[in-house]
Amino acid sequence: MIDIHTHILPGIDDGSPDLETSIKMAEIAASEGIDIMVATPHFIPKDKEIERDRVLKKTEELNEYIKNKAGLDIAVYPGEEVFLSPEVPDLFSQGKLITLFDGGKYLLVELPMMSIPPYTKDVLHALMLKGAKPIIAHPERNREIARDLDRLKELVSLGALVQVNSLSFYGVFGRDAKHTAQRIVAEGMAQFMATDCHTARARSPRYLKTLQMLPQSKINLLMQENPEKVMTGRDIEASSERDKKSGKMNLFQKLTFFLGQL
Ligand SMILES: [Fe+2]
Repeated sequence: MIDIHTHILPGIDDGSPDLETSIKMAEIAASEGIDIMVATPHFIPKDKEIERDRVLKKTEELNEYIKNKAGLDIAVYPGEEVFLSPEVPDLFSQGKLITLFDGGKYLLVELPMMSIPPYTKDVLHALMLKGAKPIIAHPERNREIARDLDRLKELVSLGALVQVNSLSFYGVFGRDAKHTAQRIVAEGMAQFMATDCHTARARSPRYLKTLQMLPQSKINLLMQENPEKVMTGRDIEASSERDKKSGKMNLFQKLTFFLGQL
């Protein structure tokens, strides 16, 4: 499987504090069947603008260690999780941001936790005019979206893609985030699931428990097929018949979903 959102690079943001933790995280990922990870440290315009060369160098060093010293079969690629602000489209066209896999098109962006700022639609639109394809990270954790899913639908209708966190299904971010993640996937709005791992403990790179809540075919789509398209620069349809079909839950999963709504 391919994990497109991780904070596995050591000592660069609020994720892994050191190499030892990064290796533990890679071991957990390998035990879950993840073989490709994108390192996506936080980039916050005007506040924490990490330099692209630093991310590329740290990714290379971590890969070297994972393969040659830890002997794990995991490849780490560079990327960033960019806090959405009015400066982002210009930063993108200036080449200051790292897209997923450093592939040029798919940009992982995050909203504030509590609100959807009034400039959000304009910024997403401007990014797309410049050739970027924004992927909204964990919208289920945004309070306005959890309250009203139509707020996310508005952004999806503009052409933005959606990534849910596997750990939201575990309940790590609370009941609202869990139910919102379930609804986003059930309504066919998500193209990706990723771990957004920060540690080797509670927020570690795990997803296998989501098999109790989602069909295997859906997980394959969200963690293998669509991420592969990102990796190779191919297009992804926002919502296809294939996506809706694979989103069908079996009886047990439906029961789990509806009980969770009570
Ligand atoms: Fe993140």
